[in-house]
Amino acid sequence: MSAGLAIAPPRALFISFEGIDGAGKSTHLDAAEAWLRARGAEVVRTREPGGTPLAEALRALLLHEPMDALTESLLVFAARRDHLRRCIEPALARGAVVLCDRFTDATFAYQGGGRGFDLGVLARLEAWVQQGRQPDRTFWFDLPPAVAAARRAAARAPDRFESEDEAFFERVRAGYAARAAAEPRRFVRLDAAQEAESVRAQLLDALQALVAEAGGTERGR
Ligand code: TYD
Repeated sequence: MSAGLAIAPPRALFISFEGIDGAGKSTHLDAAEAWLRARGAEVVRTREPGGTPLAEALRALLLHEPMDALTESLLVFAARRDHLRRCIEPALARGAVVLCDRFTDATFAYQGGGRGFDLGVLARLEAWVQQGRQPDRTFWFDLPPAVAAARRAAARAPDRFESEDEAFFERVRAGYAARAAAEPRRFVRLDAAQEAESVRAQLLDALQALVAEAGGTERGR
């Protein structure tokens, strides 16, 4: 092994990416994935709803079939249960770094904030389905809904959530803010209204801090 490989690769971290539609998370997921791979990590990139065949089938229903907020919440948590058991937990157990495009904070933001669904019921489902499992860190790409809407307008045909109005996304944003305030150590808020290059720099700094905290850059020294 060369001296450059003395630093142990990041291992067994569960990282989620959150924000309203149009925040630009997908681009930044690419940057995080490349950064981690360059440091030797095994990266599993996945998404919610989705990440397994069953959960992807539920995703298609969630994004396109009309349903009420309770049905939405139950389907999202059913998908999450399968995703945790068959993808996320095995990946963490073998030491992979899991990058998840949305996780339970999205349920609190969209079903809880956006739809106004009962947060107590969501908290019970969360405890029941996750058995204490939470991301080690959550990167929240935060920006005003009007800016996100302008970005979305340039993208493809909207799904059931993307076609909601600005007031809906204000409530979703407030839902994220409430989760971030409740768990300030887990959440990192990134100012996603800035230029992509600046958002990327904020993200990679925060990723570096997480990896250092988890011991990844210390071990080899
Ligand atoms: P998104 O992750 O933005 O994917 P894409 O980039 O392909 O549009 O889309 C998923 C949608 O699902 C998003 O609008 C938010 C919604 N959603 C919920 O309403 N609740 C949830 O718990 C999750 C995970 C997603």
